Order: sequence, then C-alpha cells, then structure tokens
Amino acid sequence: MALALYDTLVPFYHLLDPVAEHADEMAVVIEAFEGISPCNTLLELGAGAGNNAFHLKAHVACTLTDLSPAMLGLSRAQNPECEHLVADMRTLRQGRTYDVVLAHDGITYMSTLDDLRAAVLTAFVHTRPGGLAVFAPDVYRETFEESTDLYEGDDGTRALRCLEWSWDPSPDDHACITEYSFLLREGGEVVSVHDRHVEGLFSRAEWREVLTEVGFTVGTTRRPIGDGETDEIFVCRRP
Ligand SMILES: C[S@@+](CC[C@H](N)C(=O)[O-])C[C@H]1O[C@@H](n2cnc3c(N)ncnc32)[C@H](O)[C@@H]1O
Repeated sequence: MALALYDTLVPFYHLLDPVAEHADEMAVVIEAFEGISPCNTLLELGAGAGNNAFHLKAHVACTLTDLSPAMLGLSRAQNPECEHLVADMRTLRQGRTYDVVLAHDGITYMSTLDDLRAAVLTAFVHTRPGGLAVFAPDVYRETFEESTDLYEGDDGTRALRCLEWSWDPSPDDHACITEYSFLLREGGEVVSVHDRHVEGLFSRAEWREVLTEVGFTVGTTRRPIGDGETDEIFVCRRP
C-alpha cells in the first residue's frame, strides 16, 4: 500500500518539508559537483517534491525520478523546466548516463541490503565514467537513536501538526520504523492520520562495502543537518 505522506497527504507535503530548508544542504552538493567537468546533467533518484532540484536546476539540467506520481506532480509544479519520470530507483534503466546522480533521503526507503545494492547499482549505471554520485541517507546505524520530533505548518488554506517518532523494533536487521502522526486541518475540518514508514538502517561500513562492490570510488563530505550540526554523506566517483 502507498505511504499516505506520498499519496493522499501530498497537498500538505510542503507544510512538513518546505523547499527553503533544502538550500544549505544543496549548496554542499553543488560544491561537490563543481569539482568535475563537464557538469551539465543530473539524475535524481527519489526526487519527491523536487525541493532539492529547485536549488540545483540553475546549475545543471535535472531529470527527476520518483515512485510516487503525486510527489512528482508537486515537483512538476515547482520545476516545470525539469524532466520527470515515475520510476523505482531499484529498477530504473534509462540507457543513458549523467554527469551527476543524486540519491538523497528517498534512498532511506531501501530497508534490505538487496534493495540498497539495487538502488546503488542504478546510480552506478547512470553515472558517466568520471562522473559523481552523491548518496545522502537520513540515518546511519552508528548514530541512530530512538527519537521524536514535532513539526507544524500553515499556509492559510491548510494546516498541519505532526509528531515523527523513529524507533528500531529489531536491531539485528537493516530496517527501522518512522511513525508519523498527523493532524490535518482544511476548511475547518480536522482529520488524524497515522502513517508507518519502514526505512533502512546501515552502518557506514556497510554503505562503503555496497558502494565499492558496484564499482564506485568512495569519498565523503559533510553536510549541515541543522542547529549548527553536520553529518557525513558519500560523494563517489565512477572510475
Ligand atoms: C522525503 S521524500 C523526498 C523529498 C525530496 N528530497 C525533495 O527534494 O522533495 C522521499 C521520496 O522517496 C520516494 N521513494 C520511496 N521509495 C522509492 C523507490 N523505491 N524508488 C523511487 N522513489 C522512492 C517517495 O515516493 C518519496 O517521494
């Protein structure tokens, strides 16, 4: 069954994940890809609402792919100049390569090693020799802790309050859970929705092993994650 957040709740998505909040992190991605030449094209896997692409598209022509047609609808509205394609990052094969491939938080939905390998292989076959692939998962096994966050947003027509609760029911596999509890207000009506997301949890060593196995030369850089903190993301070269 489709996740409500990327399906029926899409009209509220911008209240949970505002586009402006992607600017700092995308500045790091732009700095990384400005190190290669030529750098004209980018493929994003799991591009969602296109909030990353909004900051990238002035620098490279973006092709944006996602499993959810509704999320890509949001992206088309804010990035009409970009190419959009409904596709699963585990199986996409376009028969062409790009200067840069980006897999941001959508890759967090790879919750087994086989799925992670499949998505990383997709990135590899779409990266030109000498090109870059950037992998920026939300969490790593080493730093994961059960946690709770609260979000709120209003746009005058719709309002959202959300509790996000991440936990790991079975530390011996590669999956963890993020529970979302939403209260959503529209036209004076308020509804509640519980949405359970199964996500992946891999150690940095496991990430490196998968990236190396498919053929990437693995590097890292640091990205801002708010409150002055940073974490590590993978910036890989296809030899
Ligand atoms: C948090 S959203 C991404 C938001 C995005 N970073 C942005 O800039 O708007 C995560 C996305 O991953 C997508 N996704 C989950 N599993 C996927 C898969 N197997 N292949 C492609 N996209 C997937 C979801 O449909 C969702 O749109």
